[in-house]
Amino acid sequence: MHAITRFEHPASIDAPEMFVLRAERDLWAEVLLAKVGDLDMFESAELAFSYGMYPEYHRHIHLVASDGGTPTCQEHVLGVASLDMPMADNPRLAILSLVVRSGSRGKGVGGALHAAALKVAEEFGRSTIQVWTWEPVSIPDGARELPAETGVGGVERDSAESRFLAGRGYTLGQAERISRMALPSVDDLAAMRDAELARMPSEYEIITIHGPTPDDLLDGAAALSATMAADVPTGDLDVGEELWDAERLRASDAQLDAADRDQLQTLIRHVPSGELVGFTRFLHDRSRPEIAHQWETLVVGGHRGHGLGMLMKAVNHAAIPEVWPRVTRLITGNASENAHMLAINTALGYEPYAACGFWEWRRGADG
Ligand SMILES: CC(C)(COP(=O)(O)OP(=O)(O)OC[C@H]1O[C@@H](n2cnc3c(N)ncnc32)[C@H](O)[C@@H]1OP(=O)(O)O)[C@@H](O)C(=O)NCCC(=O)NCCS
Repeated sequence: MHAITRFEHPASIDAPEMFVLRAERDLWAEVLLAKVGDLDMFESAELAFSYGMYPEYHRHIHLVASDGGTPTCQEHVLGVASLDMPMADNPRLAILSLVVRSGSRGKGVGGALHAAALKVAEEFGRSTIQVWTWEPVSIPDGARELPAETGVGGVERDSAESRFLAGRGYTLGQAERISRMALPSVDDLAAMRDAELARMPSEYEIITIHGPTPDDLLDGAAALSATMAADVPTGDLDVGEELWDAERLRASDAQLDAADRDQLQTLIRHVPSGELVGFTRFLHDRSRPEIAHQWETLVVGGHRGHGLGMLMKAVNHAAIPEVWPRVTRLITGNASENAHMLAINTALGYEPYAACGFWEWRRGADG
């Protein structure tokens, strides 16, 4: 017998409800070890807390399945469903994280959590639910026989997760590749940066920042974040524009700080117009000092085709050893159909490390 209890997002990092996030993170660690083989992609409970710390941007609700009664601590947790609902944009959307302890699967816990999550989504007027799944990289391509709707890549049709989601009316909108590389030597990084800088057209300048975005760049950087959200390939998935302004970017920087994360970004300015026209950034968790996560890279439409993407990346890579001397590995994720970005990453030395499925359910679409 299991019970399902609803929790609001913890009000602070010291709140008692943090046990929910800790339990959820432990369950995801179990999944990562089983599917990917290590914890390089692990996200801490503190990071999970930070994602929901500004409810005006993202409202998080958690549902806990326990082995009876109201859970008060981690050891009674059988599974967790967390909904992330964007509040400033994308009003139809809820992003669901659903995970059940491996020893408790196949007994209806996941199904019950999913049904409860759908009710919460409905309460918030959300008609689209999106879910991510993990896959090992070592599956032969032929075994990924459930194709993504983009036509590129796919996932295993018979995994427990694929069966669970397909059986509930979800479709595979996109397949994503996660890649990893060893950080090259300081000399190699500098050589690559210098070669790219030598090719930089004279009307551009480079700005590299470690830490929060400076006040004078906030408006331009917020505009880049909005463009990034609109430009990143998302197939036919129901992902709309994101509204970014200086205030939201400041909140996002504070969120990183609360999660003990910091960032290293390289931006490009088009000197004649004074506009910021591109950026790339790494995030780094102080609790996992050997890993830097490559997040967004964007060159604005009219400025593509000048090698600026590779240039920014080479400059940002070369800045790592000085700001984060313990980093040895870089990790990034790309849509399988994003051939241009994958080509840049392969040239930099990234190799496939894991795969992800990006699934979607729309109310009414499953008949
Ligand atoms: C996907 C996941 C959440 C499913 O959790 P679960 O607790 O095994 O889910 P359920 O037990 O409700 O359902 C799984 C299957 O078990 C079987 N089952 C369900 N209730 C059962 C019961 N009472 N007795 C026997 N078998 C049962 C059914 O075959 C069911 O499939 P169906 O309902 O789709 O036909 C779980 O595999 C998991 O945590 N995976 C890793 C996390 C992840 O990738 N999450 C993202 C995808 S949701």
